[in-house]
Amino acid sequence: MLKIIASETVKENGQRAAEVVTELLRSKPTAVLGLATGSSPIEMYTELARMCDKGEISFKNVKSVNLDEYVGLSPEHDQSYAYFMRNNLFDKVDIDLKNTNLPNGLAEDPVAECKRYDAVVESMGGIDLQVLGIGLNGHIGFNEPADEFTEGTGLVELTQSTIDANSRFFADKSLVPTKAFSMGVGQIMSADKILLIATGTAKAQILEKALFGEVTPRVPASVLQTAKDVVVCADRAALSVILEKHPECVKF
Ligand code: GLP
Repeated sequence: MLKIIASETVKENGQRAAEVVTELLRSKPTAVLGLATGSSPIEMYTELARMCDKGEISFKNVKSVNLDEYVGLSPEHDQSYAYFMRNNLFDKVDIDLKNTNLPNGLAEDPVAECKRYDAVVESMGGIDLQVLGIGLNGHIGFNEPADEFTEGTGLVELTQSTIDANSRFFADKSLVPTKAFSMGVGQIMSADKILLIATGTAKAQILEKALFGEVTPRVPASVLQTAKDVVVCADRAALSVILEKHPECVKF
């Protein structure tokens, strides 16, 4: 089941996405959240932090697993995903940091780290809601276009397109990590519900291709067409191609 919720602005989009999370937290305060980084979920995290501050929701009994982390960056590095999560959500809500999980970018043995993270995901007993952004090449987490859909956590060589896209956050292109740990597509798809967030015209083509094109590991996000429950929260800009080709599928 695919539901596309459209918003006029990025801020409104964040609020709509936050509604999907709060609905879950109210019905299941012990929910397991699969969390994502990138610019797409920032407004949602801002709204969740605001609501938690007001006492409208609580993360006290929530557990989280993040999708991915750059290899070589410490949790203190301001471009690490661990830092991003603290800065955008964990430090602003009542979540117990002990209940939050990310791959360890500094792990010395990558194979052991992937195994450890698989065990962490497994120990959650199922992800209730997995939040996702979408890369310009259709990646989800850091699952880049490939010949096959990945299953478990892996060490990923980032594509040039992803390195270029992410270089905007680093002082110099040479400082952008070229590898990352990422949960696999199989782990993402095991979630009960998936919330995909996309904003901006740059995502318009790939979003249409992912949601209405061929299901192929060359466009990793296309696998979402086979998921049991997917909600897409996107702004009008990111939906521009879908609004042209499949307007009947979009709900404002
Ligand atoms: C990054 C992350 C993805 C994210 C994507 C899109 O590479 N690994 O999880 O969804 O890029 O990022 P943004 O939301 O900034 O466009």
